[in-house]
Amino acid sequence: MTEQKLRELLEDMSLEEKVNQLVQLPGTYYKTEASVTGSMGRREFTEKQISQAGSTLGIWGAETICRIQESYMEKQPHHIPLLFMLDVIHGLRTVFPIPLAQGASFHPELARDFAFAAAKESVASGVHVTFAPMTDLVRDPRWGRVMESTGEDSFLNSQMAEAMVRGFRGKMASCIKHFAGYGAAEGGREYNSAELSRHTLREYYLPSYEAGITAGCDMVMASFNTIDGIPSTGNKWLLRHVLREEMGFEGVLISDWGAVGEMISHGYCEDKKEAAFRAIDAGVDIDMCTDVYANYLPELMKEGKVKEKLVDEAVLRVLHLKNKLGLFENPYGEADEAREREVVLCKEHRKLARDKAAETFVLLKNEGGKEAPLFPLDFEKSIAFIGPYVDSSDLHSRWAVAGDGKDAVSVRQAAEEMLSGEDITFCRGCPAMGENEILFGSAGDEKTRKCIDKETSEMLSEAVKGAQSADTVVLFLGEHRLQSGEAASRGFIELPKRQMELFRKVCEVSRHVAVVLFNGRPLDLREIEENARAILEVWLPGTEGGYAIVDVLTGKKEPSGRLPMSFPYCGGQIPVYYNQCATGRPKQGREDKDFYRSRYLDIPNEPLYAFGYGLGYTSFQLSEACLSRDCLLKGEDGLQAWADVANTGSRPGTETVQLYIRDKFAGVVRPVRELKGFQRVSLKPGETKRVIFEIKEEMLRFHQPDGSYVSEPGIFELWIGSSSETDNQVEFRLL
Ligand code: GLC
Repeated sequence: MTEQKLRELLEDMSLEEKVNQLVQLPGTYYKTEASVTGSMGRREFTEKQISQAGSTLGIWGAETICRIQESYMEKQPHHIPLLFMLDVIHGLRTVFPIPLAQGASFHPELARDFAFAAAKESVASGVHVTFAPMTDLVRDPRWGRVMESTGEDSFLNSQMAEAMVRGFRGKMASCIKHFAGYGAAEGGREYNSAELSRHTLREYYLPSYEAGITAGCDMVMASFNTIDGIPSTGNKWLLRHVLREEMGFEGVLISDWGAVGEMISHGYCEDKKEAAFRAIDAGVDIDMCTDVYANYLPELMKEGKVKEKLVDEAVLRVLHLKNKLGLFENPYGEADEAREREVVLCKEHRKLARDKAAETFVLLKNEGGKEAPLFPLDFEKSIAFIGPYVDSSDLHSRWAVAGDGKDAVSVRQAAEEMLSGEDITFCRGCPAMGENEILFGSAGDEKTRKCIDKETSEMLSEAVKGAQSADTVVLFLGEHRLQSGEAASRGFIELPKRQMELFRKVCEVSRHVAVVLFNGRPLDLREIEENARAILEVWLPGTEGGYAIVDVLTGKKEPSGRLPMSFPYCGGQIPVYYNQCATGRPKQGREDKDFYRSRYLDIPNEPLYAFGYGLGYTSFQLSEACLSRDCLLKGEDGLQAWADVANTGSRPGTETVQLYIRDKFAGVVRPVRELKGFQRVSLKPGETKRVIFEIKEEMLRFHQPDGSYVSEPGIFELWIGSSSETDNQVEFRLL
C-alpha cells in the first residue's frame, strides 16, 4: 500500500479503532492454544477490542493463523490484518543452541544462519514478527535470562545482534530487546531495578541495542526495569531522547508483557489512566497484554490530555510495519501448510543445528599428563555414560516455545545409533532434580513433577557399579531447563544436589571421570573442576544436541567455543566480568600478598573460567604481538597489530584469536582491557597463519563526562591472545 493510501486509511479510522491497533492480546483470546509468557491477571476487553486489536502473540501454525486471520479480517472495519508475533528466540521447531551458546561460538555468521533458518520455519507457520534478538548485556549468572543473551561483552553482543537481525531480515520482522539494561537487574533477581549510571548504561549496555537497530530491526521492546528510577516503559529520556533521537529508531516500540500496567506496581503511576498517559507520552506504541491503552487512551484523548497526533504517530508506525510485511496485499503472509510441512524440521535445518553446535561447545578442561586426555574418547577402552542427561531429549530451553523433545534424540540414542559396536554402558544414576529443588512454575503441578524422575533405589548403585567397571566415565549432568530463562533467578548457581551426590560417588570409584554439562548459565563448578579430568560445556544444545555431542566425544567434530561469560569462582564473587576497572588499589596478580588491595580474604579475584577461555582438541602457539607502528595519529590511517598462530598439536583445530585494548589513563577510568576484535582461525596440524587486526582511532573512543564520544591521546596497551587473561601485550600511543 502506498504511503498516501496508508494516511488515507488512518484518516478514515475512528479514534477507538486507532487505539485498538495499539493493543496486543495473548493468542488465547483468539480461541486457540498459545504460549503464555506472562501472568494473565484480570483484564477487561470488549468483543470489539478483541476483534480490532492490532496484534497478538504466542500463536504459530499455518492452518491456525490463516483461520484466525480470515475471521479477524471479516470483522475488522477497514480489513487491517492482525499481526502475529512470537518468541522465536533460538529456533522455531528446529531448536538451535541457546543464544548464550551462540555467543560462545564467537561466530556471528553462525547466529545469522540460525536466525535465517528459524525465520523460514516461522513465516511458513504464519508468524510475522519475532521478539528476538535479546541483546541485554549480562554480568550476573543468578539471573535466569543470561541463557537468552550472548554474554558479558558489548562488542561481542553487538556483533551477534547485528548478525541475528540480518538473519531474520527479509523473511520476518525482528525485535531488539529489552531496552534498556534489563540484564543489570540488581542481585540477578528477576524484574529487579537496574542501578546504572548513565555512563555505564551508554558505555556497556546500549551498544548492542544500537547495533541491532543499525542492522535494521523493525521493533524495539521496552524493558521491565527502571532506569534512573523511572520504569523504561514510561521513561521519556530513554525512549524518545536516546532511542528515537540519538539512535534514530523509527520502527515500532512495544512494551513488555503487562509492563504498561505494572508502572502502578512500580509506584510510578497511580492508576491505569496515568499509566496510559505515561506510556504513550514516553513513546510506547503497542501495549502488550494489558487493557490500559484500550480502556484509557480514548478517554485521555477526549479530555485533550493526549493529542490525537501522538496516537496517530503510533498507529502509523504499526501500519507501516504491516505494510512493510506486505500484509495489506496478502494478510496471510507466507503461511502455507504445505511449505510448513516441507521446511519445519527439514534435513537442512537439522544438519545446520548439528554441524554448528560444536562451535558453541566450550571445552573447559581436558587433562592429559601421563595419560592421554579423556576427550575425544578412546573406544579401545570400556566407557560408561552416566547421569540424568544420558537419555533426556529435552535439550532445549524454556524459550523454545515451539520446541519439543520428541523431535530430538538423547545422547544415548545418538550413541547407540552411531557407536553400536562400542563397549558403552548407560545408566541414569539419579533423578535430574531432587524433590526439594525448585523449578520455574508451581512445584506441584503435573508438568513440573514430570521433571522429577521416578527415583529407584538401584539407580545410584547401578551407576557406581557401571563406573567401577569402566575405564572411562562420562557424566552427563546439568540444570533442568526449568531452572533458567525468565522468572528463574537462582541464589545458588550449582548443579542440583542429587547430581552432585552422584558425581561424588562416581569419583570415589573412578579416577577417569569426564563431565558434559547442560546448563543455561555459568555455574559454580569448583568441585567438578577439582575432581573431573575433563569438562565439556554444551549449554542447552537443542534438537540435534544428542548427535552433536557424540560427534564431539568421538572426535568427529572439535569443540571450538570460547566463554562469552565468566564462570565465577563461587556465587559470592558475582558480579565478576573481565572488563572491570582497576580501582585505586588493584591486586597485582594472583600472588599479591598486600592486604590493602581490592580483594577478598577468602576467595580469589579471578573467575574460575575467564571470558574468552576455551580449549580444543589440539594445541596452539601464538607469537608475540606486533605492531606496524608504535603510534597512531588521529585522522590518519590506523595501525596494524598481528600475531602468528600455529597449530602445534596433531589434530586440525580452530582457535579464536582475540584482540584486547586498554586506555591506560583517561578522563573517565577505563576497563583493564576490552575486547575490540576476534578472528576464528582454522589450522591443520603444523600450519601457521598470521592474524592481523586493523587498529583505528574510533575503536578507542568512549563516552566522555560532557556527553561526547571521543578518544583521548595517550598510552594504550594491546593484547592478542586466546582468552581475556592473555599477557601477550604491546603498547602504542595515540597522538
Ligand atoms: C516476556 C518477556 C519478553 C517476551 C514477552 C512476550 O515477559 O520478557 O522477552 O518477548 O514477554 O512473550
